[in-house]
Amino acid sequence: MKEFRQARWDEPLLKELSRPGRVGTLVPIEPLAHKNLKDPSLLVPASMRRERLELPELSELQVLRHFNRLSQMNFSVELGMYPLGSCTMKYNPKVSEAIAGSDSMRQAHPLQPDETVQGLLSVFYQLERYLSEVTGMERFSLSTAAGAQGEFAGVLIVRKFLHDAGRPDRDEILVPDSAHGTNPASAAMAGFRVVKVPSDSTGQVRASSVESLVSERTAGMMFTVPNTLGLFESEVEEVCDAVHKAGGLMYYDGANMNAMLGHARPGDMGFDIVHLNLHKTFATPHGGGGPGAGPVGVKRSLVDYLPVPVVSRKGERYVLDYGLKHSIGRLKGFVGNSAVLLRAYAYIRLLGGSGLTDVSSLAVLAANYLWKSLDPEAFPVSHGQGLRRKHEAVVSAKSELSGSAMTIAKAMLDRGMHSPTVYFPLIVKEALMIEPTESEPLEMLDEYAAGLNEAYKALKEGSLGEVPKNTTVGRVDEVKASHPLTLKVHW
Ligand SMILES: Cc1ncc(COP(=O)(O)O)c(C=O)c1O
Repeated sequence: MKEFRQARWDEPLLKELSRPGRVGTLVPIEPLAHKNLKDPSLLVPASMRRERLELPELSELQVLRHFNRLSQMNFSVELGMYPLGSCTMKYNPKVSEAIAGSDSMRQAHPLQPDETVQGLLSVFYQLERYLSEVTGMERFSLSTAAGAQGEFAGVLIVRKFLHDAGRPDRDEILVPDSAHGTNPASAAMAGFRVVKVPSDSTGQVRASSVESLVSERTAGMMFTVPNTLGLFESEVEEVCDAVHKAGGLMYYDGANMNAMLGHARPGDMGFDIVHLNLHKTFATPHGGGGPGAGPVGVKRSLVDYLPVPVVSRKGERYVLDYGLKHSIGRLKGFVGNSAVLLRAYAYIRLLGGSGLTDVSSLAVLAANYLWKSLDPEAFPVSHGQGLRRKHEAVVSAKSELSGSAMTIAKAMLDRGMHSPTVYFPLIVKEALMIEPTESEPLEMLDEYAAGLNEAYKALKEGSLGEVPKNTTVGRVDEVKASHPLTLKVHW
């Protein structure tokens, strides 16, 4: 198998590049000599040792080149703008990486006794305090590994709370039609029936429609503010009141908290339970469903229902506390993704209260600036025309050109910029969901808007041609990746 000189879609596997006898690393022959253990079988019995490992045999340089070629096939926020609305690829400051990668962090083991990791536990305790302060909640459990898992924990809390209150018959959760797909999925996984709440022509949920949908069967409502159209829900307090009056709990999907930081708190709006996507708001790696972090927080009356462990303070000591009386149990090992949590803590400490407030102000400013730089004829908005956007703007790539959102998205790849999120939220035709975040310089926002405008023009005039043409891999079959999903296991 030939070794290529540049990134190509058919990059061979390491196994295919392997040649017998080639070595890339020198393993010490007598690793135990310093312990005076000449016979390794004293540690690993001969019967349990493998004589031969079927590993690829290559030089260190070949391995390095292989992985460099693979990395060049990728796009990252460290290469160019990555304005994926809703999924938010936010720049992660290097200082947080350095802290998370420090020796003391890397060598900590989850099974170490609490007394030996007091520093780390104190950081998590403090992080929990910060998250509570920012959201207006009483306590958080940090353990859940993604926004979606935070949601799942939240609806399990609703379920257990209602069971304990003698109302297991409350089996409906209201979810707006603009919600992220994980909302109805989490509610259904927790055993609830999902009741869809329509958005009006301004893209918002009206309290009157919630009032008409609640009943004796209402367990609660999952509500995203600002919503996935990037719009603040102006009747959020009235919606919370309507659900509370009906006997349900209010769940805040805090994925878009990056637009709210320091300006408004879900706890003050009337929410009982919150999850935060640390990657979106506090600049940590995302991880598809993990390994990220989606802490879940609650008001005082629900603290005992949080997933365990939580980090508690007992006198002068910090402990992993498994003793919450009504806890929904454990959803993830130990305290959660400690290196991700540590990055979020570092980000908060780096910026302080006023810095965090600036983060959301800048994210909102950038989203509105970019939106207003788009050709309104080419990229109209379908909902809330006159309303200012928060952290993201959702536009339609003009719909007489079917499939145009996807084509424009691909054309952006040719310009060395990542596409916006496409075809979400589902209530917008040919949706392009653009979230520049607070980190991009003005010139980049201008370049991005110009790129979208030019791509649209070229598409309309028929001069765009096949896109993308400059990427390692061209058009892929987007549907085939998941339908039918055929997983093969080779033993
Ligand atoms: C509004 C909203 N809710 C929930 C989620 C799910 O979060 P995660 O991808 O961390 O599971 C997302 C994704 O970023 C989101 O945008």
